[in-house]
Amino acid sequence: MCLISLLHFVCLVCVIAAPLDWSHHMRAQGAQGTGSKKQQALEVQSNINRVFTSINCLFCPVYFFKESIVLDPVPFHHCLIPNFIQSQDFLEGLQKELLNLDFHEKCNDLYKFKQSDDLKKRKEPHISALRKLLFEEFRVWLSDVTQVELKPTIDLSCAKYEYTDTLLCHDDELEGRRIAFILYLVPPWDKSDGGTLDLFSTDEHSQPQQVVKSLVPSWNSLVFFEVSPVSFHQVSEVLSKGKCRLSVSGWFHGPSVTRPPRYTESLLPRNPHIPYDHEILYEWINPVYLDMDSQAQIQEEFEDRSETLLKDFLKKEKFQQVCEALEKEDIKWTSRGPPNKRFYERAEEGSLPDVLRECMELFHSEALFLLLSNFTGLKLHFLASSEDDDEGEEEDSTESAGCSSSKCKGEPSQEANGSTEKSGEVPESEEGSSVPMCVGELRRWTNGHYTLVHDTQKAEFALDLLFFCGCEAWDVKYGGFTSYIAKGEDEELLTVQPENNCLALVYKDRETLKFVKHVNHHSLKQTKTNHSRSRFWDFSFVYYE
Ligand SMILES: *[C@@H]1O[C@H](CO)[C@@H](O)[C@H](O)[C@H]1NC(C)=O
Ligand SMILES: *[C@@H]1O[C@H](CO)[C@@H](O)[C@H](O)[C@H]1NC(C)=O
Ligand SMILES: *[C@@H]1O[C@H](CO)[C@@H](O)[C@H](O)[C@H]1NC(C)=O
Repeated sequence: MCLISLLHFVCLVCVIAAPLDWSHHMRAQGAQGTGSKKQQALEVQSNINRVFTSINCLFCPVYFFKESIVLDPVPFHHCLIPNFIQSQDFLEGLQKELLNLDFHEKCNDLYKFKQSDDLKKRKEPHISALRKLLFEEFRVWLSDVTQVELKPTIDLSCAKYEYTDTLLCHDDELEGRRIAFILYLVPPWDKSDGGTLDLFSTDEHSQPQQVVKSLVPSWNSLVFFEVSPVSFHQVSEVLSKGKCRLSVSGWFHGPSVTRPPRYTESLLPRNPHIPYDHEILYEWINPVYLDMDSQAQIQEEFEDRSETLLKDFLKKEKFQQVCEALEKEDIKWTSRGPPNKRFYERAEEGSLPDVLRECMELFHSEALFLLLSNFTGLKLHFLASSEDDDEGEEEDSTESAGCSSSKCKGEPSQEANGSTEKSGEVPESEEGSSVPMCVGELRRWTNGHYTLVHDTQKAEFALDLLFFCGCEAWDVKYGGFTSYIAKGEDEELLTVQPENNCLALVYKDRETLKFVKHVNHHSLKQTKTNHSRSRFWDFSFVYYE
């Protein structure tokens, strides 16, 4: 086999097919193959005798095996170096030092794992040697082969992922980060142990689509990849109950590159209420909540705390019917992404059996807008009392005003959308106008589902409504709870646990963000005969004054 001509071919493909990114920065002598046998010996400390092979065409758009280094530009440039460090003694010493560090539980919308103290200044001999290896010799080599000028900035830590730990889909982009790397120090590891480094493909808006490659961690292998607007990846949930996925990871920093503007997705369509009179409330809702005194009490509490939980919200028999329909009926569920923002299933409204369709309508109904106004003191209907105005707004709401009586009950369709909703989004001019809107969906939650806080989440005042079904055996440790946090902080303001027949109302201000915690493997109940997948459902609505 003529290596030189192979290299020629590889590099030609690379120039033609991928003229962007790093591929056109390949070293000049690569094209001539002169470096193919040349080895660059790098003396690190006495106990590390790693020899780096000089690579000629590092990021070519084909698989490229050479001296056991694996390069692949799909779905984005990444590289795997097995047996990164030669000395087993060194590795074992390193592992021992790392495991002796203090680890801190890290947990938010995006991840759950344990992280060590910063390794920037640790004095342990093996850790210091690794730091020197990575940020001196290896960095120089990497700069050379990628032609990216990497700074000596040290950005290094150690992570421990154990059963149910995960790091969900993200792109790593942060000022200055150019190349991410991970060195694995794991026991013999199988794909079924989870904890794989999953790489996502992206769509035309550079939004992640699906996992197209999973790298199974292995002892002493090093993975690195270019941080870019499309470098979406995740650490899949660790499924092994006994093994610890230990790794050292960090970033090489370099000159900032200009990023394309972030893609803003279109929002789900908002609708005004559906005309329905009070009958629907008496039909569905626990009469306790229709009593004026209890409404006044709920409102007082809500105005104080901006949240309330209403237990046994639906009448028992109605709740029963809803649960049975959810379990038995043939409902079409579709996954909602993209994975850097959310992953759960949403019911297609057209596939809903009558009882669930009616339940959705209840949450959309004019009568419920009024009831929520009474619960919260918000003005979700022009008739709702309000301290500062009485008449002024009626004219703006003629559409709904004409329908506030039972005359309209025969037409509970979303016919009002013609005038108030255009192409799925509320026009800017509608904001601040007096037509209250809502958006809602029926969702199913099982292992692997979550939503993330993301920067395109619109900052606006809103009332969140969550109503839960099918969660009798749900446990906090499964995840699936909704967490409210203050913008820019990890600290939780409020957590809403899924609870059967319970209605949660939360008023969000512009500084409040929310997410649903990743539903982890604890939720798979293992019986002797089968693995039944625990799940719950919620009706999730948001109301805008
Ligand atoms: C809301 O409260 C008002 C009294 O303040 C009452 O007349 C009305 O019936 C209540 N609405 C609902 C839906 O309970
Ligand atoms: C309302 O929207 C639905 C789908 O979103 C559409 O099928 C229907 O024709 C619309 N109605 C009016 C009156 O525009
Ligand atoms: C699995 O177990 C659950 C609960 O124990 C049971 O309801 C279900 O019918 C079982 N499924 C199968 C396919 O055996």
